[in-house]
Amino acid sequence: MSIKMIFSELKEKYPLLVDTANYLEQNSFFFRTTLTKIKGSGLDYELAEKLCSDCLNHVKQNRDGYFKCVHTLIDFSLEFLKLQMHLEKTGRYTYSTFKEIEENIYSNPNRKLKGPWYTWALYFSQIFWVSHWNVFRFFLSEFAKNNKEHGEVLEVPTGTGIYIAQFLANNPSWQGTGVDLGNTAIEFTKNVLAWNKIPSHRIALYKEDIYKFETDKRFDRIMCGEFLEHVEDPLGVLIKLHKLLKPDGKLFLTVAVYAEMIDHIYLYKSADEVRGHVKEAGFIPEKELVQAIFENKSPEDRDTPINYCAILKKI
Ligand SMILES: C[S@@+](CC[C@H](N)C(=O)[O-])C[C@H]1O[C@@H](n2cnc3c(N)ncnc32)[C@H](O)[C@@H]1O
Repeated sequence: MSIKMIFSELKEKYPLLVDTANYLEQNSFFFRTTLTKIKGSGLDYELAEKLCSDCLNHVKQNRDGYFKCVHTLIDFSLEFLKLQMHLEKTGRYTYSTFKEIEENIYSNPNRKLKGPWYTWALYFSQIFWVSHWNVFRFFLSEFAKNNKEHGEVLEVPTGTGIYIAQFLANNPSWQGTGVDLGNTAIEFTKNVLAWNKIPSHRIALYKEDIYKFETDKRFDRIMCGEFLEHVEDPLGVLIKLHKLLKPDGKLFLTVAVYAEMIDHIYLYKSADEVRGHVKEAGFIPEKELVQAIFENKSPEDRDTPINYCAILKKI
């Protein structure tokens, strides 16, 4: 008896999305449950089809090349599950300094999931990881829309560039600034901006360490996604962002809590620890979306993987 694929009835309208979902479902046990949840969580099929098509166009319609990009998400998910077991056993992340990550991961010639492969995994996770899709949806409805006509937006770090591209597409008279330390991230962001038809005069990109980044500009909106866990001094980053934000500005923040990825350094053990730093840096949450990654766990538990997301304003 053949098993009905989870997304199959959408095939006519969203062919690439369905092929991608089928590929994930056929190649990893992890995605059968995940895709069922995604389908029930109000996935924006138009947007998901577009994100998939942008990748297929990027690899010049080469389907093998496309599924190689998609496959990075399977590698990334399995690595997360393995590392999470390590965290649960040891109570710590594998590395705790940026120097260690640089030496063992970024400069390791034997590591498969790095550079653009790592970025493709992040890119596809925005659609095919429930928690990432929920955050992306929250961002699109609560942060990227209904803004004043003109303004300045900053994203640190840009990573894939999906967030800043969507923000600028939804706010056509705004100017953008993006900062990321990684070459790959900056190049990837340039592509994503081009796929979303954002002209280069609307965005300034800086390949720069956030701790060293200086500008006279002050921003109406700042996005900082999945970053605090990647640095040794997350409070320092929040203080810097506070300085860069206008008095009536808003910061969109997401943080991985007690969730091990190989380049996570700073171990937050609960949502309250993040809230502590947020308050110390001079912010107050206006709205929060706090999700436990595993079922039957509460997002307010300690020592359970959580995705903390909030829209913050200055105290
Ligand atoms: C997990 S990605 C987050 C990307 C994106 N915001 C997202 O939500 O998908 C982490 C990014 O942080 C960047 N990064 C790490 N340390 C940095 C630093 N000190 N200053 C600026 N960017 C940094 C890396 O290059 C990488 O692109």
